[in-house]
Parts: sequence; structure tokens; C-alpha cells
Amino acid sequence: MSKPLEGIKIIDFTHVQAGPACTQLLAWFGADVIKVERPGSGDVTRTQLRDIPDVDALYFTMLNSNKKSLTLDTKKPEGKAVLEKLIKESDVMVENFGPGALDRMGFPWHTIKELNPKMILASVKGFSDGHHYDDLKVYENVAQCAGGAASTTGFWDGPPTISAAALGDSNTGMHLAIGILTALIGRDKTGKGQKVAVSMQDSVLNLCRVKLRDQQRLDRLGYLEEYPQYPHGEFSDVVPRGGNAGGGGQPGWVLKCKGWETDPNSYIYFTIQGHAWAPICRAIGKPEWIEDSNYNTASARQPHIFDIFKTIEEWLADKTKFEAVDILRKFDIPCAPVLTMKELANDPSLRESGTIAEVPHKERGTYLTVGSPIKFSDMKPEITASPLLGEHTDEVLESLGYSSAEIANLHQQQAV
Ligand code: COA
Repeated sequence: MSKPLEGIKIIDFTHVQAGPACTQLLAWFGADVIKVERPGSGDVTRTQLRDIPDVDALYFTMLNSNKKSLTLDTKKPEGKAVLEKLIKESDVMVENFGPGALDRMGFPWHTIKELNPKMILASVKGFSDGHHYDDLKVYENVAQCAGGAASTTGFWDGPPTISAAALGDSNTGMHLAIGILTALIGRDKTGKGQKVAVSMQDSVLNLCRVKLRDQQRLDRLGYLEEYPQYPHGEFSDVVPRGGNAGGGGQPGWVLKCKGWETDPNSYIYFTIQGHAWAPICRAIGKPEWIEDSNYNTASARQPHIFDIFKTIEEWLADKTKFEAVDILRKFDIPCAPVLTMKELANDPSLRESGTIAEVPHKERGTYLTVGSPIKFSDMKPEITASPLLGEHTDEVLESLGYSSAEIANLHQQQAV
């Protein structure tokens, strides 16, 4: 079956997580992704957090599947010449170097555009061009702080907190993929490429949109009714951290289930949807609350919402998180068990759908990765192993028209 992005050639000049997550997604969907790496070392994640000596780390293998690897020192004239050839023949170049690195290498946007007016240059930086911090190098947690996630995550009596989800890295890569696909469609109409830039700060802030909503509500009203601070606590003039409170119009909390004393993940997330109040009361054995004026509206419940959660926890005390959800699902109550990485890795549904994929690798044996979260009716992305460092160097050089003698010469000049 042909894949939608077949025929799109991408120079993957990315490293660490934000850029590689983007190009990996495009590779799954059929693009020919050539990862350009520094000879001898390659992407730093190849060696970071290794679990097997001398073998590419999972950090690398899980972000670079379905790609080719070309080693090239793009600071040497011979390497630059190869990159120029590649630029002329490719559709997209993706990079996430530190600010100014591509310019210093001799490939600013105007040069790339001259070499190939149809080229789409896609860049990730920590901050957008012209921002007063646009000279900063940025990693995941820095972006979470700069984009508003950290100040609004965690508990009110603790420090700003980082999410385990890669809001700064992979999330930015996903934004960039949308930008690239949009520019490709635009190019079909105009025949021209363009530069697509995404900053990590902007991408985090985009996911924190509802917190900017809350800031404006707080400015106007002085309180936020769905936060645990309401109605008994104090609000300052900035959006507070709300712990595990539900972010929308329905209160929710993480509730203890049977075994929580010894299992740190024996919890469910429970949501009190307004119109589901009667089923909730029936499910937890409190039918008398259905009509009780202390409970039968959201505003009546809010002042003692934590007492209500406590009562639900009493009901949960003899049920595992899975048993509880199996009961609550029959009452159409939005809830889920708090799942561990181990449970997710072994989840038969996720295996079946390809969201958890087992990938054979030449050197490390089989490893698990997260497959495509995007499902298509006419295509199932197949996940293949990440490339070894320089695995496809000769193949790519041959495709660019280099002879065997020229390739051997290049190897010599590029040797570290
Ligand atoms: N051949 C020769 N030189 C190469 C090369 C190659 N194949 N690949 C990279 N380089 C050079 C770059 O040109 C740069 O050179 P210079 O700074 O001397 O001009 C150098 O390697 C270092 O690149 P840089 O990206 O600055 O690496 P770093 O390790 O210092 O910083 C980051 C890493 C992630 C902090 C930085 O790249 C960054 O801020 N990126 C943008 C934001 C981002 O994507 N962050 C998230 C990463 S998950």
C-alpha cells in the first residue's frame, strides 16, 4: 500500500527530542527521512541513558524509527557540498539547533531558498524570532516553565511542577509537523517553499490555553469557582496551581482505591459531570443525595466537594482501580484507572492498535516504542528500527550521484 507522504524527501537535521519526534511522525507516514549526523558521535541521544553498553540508547531508538542515517561533517567543505546537493533535491529540511547555528554553518534561510526555491525549512527554537529571550538554548523543562505549564501545575503549597509529558519537546515537534504539512499543501498551490518556525514556549502556551482563559476570568471576578481554593481559600492575582482539580466545568479528583497504602498508583480519576449526578449517586450507593438540596446542583456541591470525594473514596475502599472503573462505566461516569508505564506496555488493546509497538533492532534485539497515535482507515503505519550511525551514508551518496571512488574519498575527508 502506498503511503501518503511517499516521494517527500526530508533532510532531518534534528537532534534530541523536539525535532526527531516531528520527522519520525512524517517518516511513519511515508516520507523519505534522511537524518544528517555528525561523524563519530551522531545525535547525542544515541549515548544518553544507555541501558546496554555500546548500543544505541532507547532515547534514540524511540524517536528515530523509519529513518536513514547519513554521517556528514557539515562544517567541512566536502560535507557542505553534499548538504548543498541534498538541499537541491529535497522537499523539506527540519532543524532544531541552538539559535544561529544553521547561519554559522553557512546555511541561512536566504541561502537555502536560493539553492532550492521549493524548499520548506522547518525550525524549532526555544523562543520565537524577535522574542527578548531568542538567544537562549532550551530544553524540555525550561520550555514548560517559559510556556506557563510549570506555574499552573502541581499543588498550591508546593513549588512550580514539571509534567512528565513532553510538552516542550514532542509537543513542539507535533506543532512543527502540522506546519510542514500545511506548507507542503501551500507549495502545491504556489510552487514556492517557505520557512516554518515553531517555538517551544509558544507550543507549551498553546496547550495551556485554558490557563490564559482562567487568568482573564480571575482578573474579572477575583476567584475561580472550579479550583480547590474556592470557596474557602484565598486567590492572588495569578492563576494558582490547582492540584488534581478538573480543568473544565466539572469537578474531578484523583481518588484512592483498594491497596493505595502500598501501591502508589492504586487510584482512579473521578469526574462529577453535572448531568451525571443521579447516576453517580446510584453508583456509589447514595440515592438520597439525588434530590437533596445540599447536593443536587453544582453550586450546592462545590462548598463541600472534598467531603463528597471522601465519601466516594469510602465506597472505593474495597475495590481495585480496575473493579471501580468496571462498575462506574456502567453508569456512564467519565473516569479511568491511573495506569503505570508497566500496565500500558502490556495493555493488549494498545498492542493490538499499534500504539505500543515491538520493533526489532539489529543490535539491541526487540524494543518497545510508542507507535502512531494517529489512526487511518486506509493505512497502518509500520514502525521499523532506527538506523545505526551512518548506516545509509553510502546509499544516500550514491543516490546523489557520487561514484564509489568519490564516496571513499569523502569518508577519508570526513573521518574524525
Ligand atoms: N556537522 C558539523 N557540525 C554540526 C553538525 C554536523 N553534522 N551537527 C551539529 N553541528 C554543530 C552545530 O552547527 C553547532 O555549532 P556551533 O554552535 O559551533 O555553531 C553545534 O553542533 C552545537 O549545536 P547546538 O544545537 O547548539 O547543540 P547544543 O548541544 O549546544 O544545544 C540544544 C542543544 C537542544 C539546547 C539546542 O540545540 C537548542 O536550544 N535547540 C533549539 C531548541 C530545541 O530544540 N530544544 C529541545 C531539544 S529536545
